[in-house]
Amino acid sequence: MQANIVCIPGDGIGPEIVAEAKKVLNKVAAVYGHEFNFEDVLMGGASIDAYGIPLTDETIAKAKAADAVLMGSIGGDAKTSPWYKLEPSKRPEAGLLGIRKALNLFANLRPAILYEELSAACPLKTEISEKGFDMMIMRELTGGLYFGERKTFEENGEKKAIDTLTYSESEIRRIAIKAFDIAMKRRKKVTSVDKANVLDSSRLWRSVTEEVAKDYPEVTLEHMLVDNAAMQLVKDPAQFDVILTENMFGDILSDEASMVTGSIGMLASASLNDTKFGLYEPSGGSAPDIAGKGIANPIATILSAAMMLRFSFDLDKEADAIEKAVKKALKSGYRTIDIMPQDEDERASVKQIGTARMGDIIASNI
Ligand code: IPM
Ligand code: MG
Repeated sequence: MQANIVCIPGDGIGPEIVAEAKKVLNKVAAVYGHEFNFEDVLMGGASIDAYGIPLTDETIAKAKAADAVLMGSIGGDAKTSPWYKLEPSKRPEAGLLGIRKALNLFANLRPAILYEELSAACPLKTEISEKGFDMMIMRELTGGLYFGERKTFEENGEKKAIDTLTYSESEIRRIAIKAFDIAMKRRKKVTSVDKANVLDSSRLWRSVTEEVAKDYPEVTLEHMLVDNAAMQLVKDPAQFDVILTENMFGDILSDEASMVTGSIGMLASASLNDTKFGLYEPSGGSAPDIAGKGIANPIATILSAAMMLRFSFDLDKEADAIEKAVKKALKSGYRTIDIMPQDEDERASVKQIGTARMGDIIASNI
């Protein structure tokens, strides 16, 4: 097949890790006879530096015209970067929120998998980690607190701030359908996470999710309150298959889930709308402290490229090949610094390598 991929290398380690994902996609194209055309566009801090704003209409138009978008990461050090002297709506993160909304990317898929080879990096007790886990967090991405009305104003001589959390039935239904569809291809369990003991939006979330569940008799639906879910993620992560939740809860729980896998540098993500189009990016951030050093882990971005092949291009065989190539690199003992074992003896049994070498090895495994 022939596909046009818009790349947003972004800030910090973004350009380094996107370069490795391109390398791997080019190898897939060569081996399986596809043609992937890449075009780079700016977003986030890089766009502020060039155009004064984090997201231009041109970037949106190019992304919309593409078959899929591959992103690195955006943002910088909030303490030292001049980008954070700008008002919030002009900072790098506003670019990311803007493109999610502009492209209607309402479904954010964040898989959290404990790789056997990396189980030593899992911070949980061995009796928990040895069971392994493989969950898919489905986070609603264009509603809730992130996009509700907000304002800061003065009342009775003091400042007051309001953020609003709104969901409509249709917004809940479309993400719930995606979650159940994905559960059908997995272990057929959906855990819908909410705060229905307090929030109206959560009570609506629960009732719509239950309605959708009626169309999926094979899938087990359970509801879990978000505070309990935060606890269960570290107590017994193996219980989860698909976690379905709203925007803010998903933001928080997906960071927690990534941490228990041992490295955020391993975690891919996909943000989808209701067509085949998607934006694919690693779950981790721009890591400005290690940018330019050639040590960042490119695996999350490479695995995001695999998700692109699977969800946007229906190239399952090629996506499997990338995932296998990653596992092989790990099995062969190659590690970037973030996934090096803590234990001295174990460190001696693996080989620490940099970003580009990891990309080379994974590409050569395809
Ligand atoms: C994420 C990030 C973003 C979010 C930030 C950078 C706005 O934390 O993708 O999880 O909160 O959605
Ligand atoms: Mg986050």
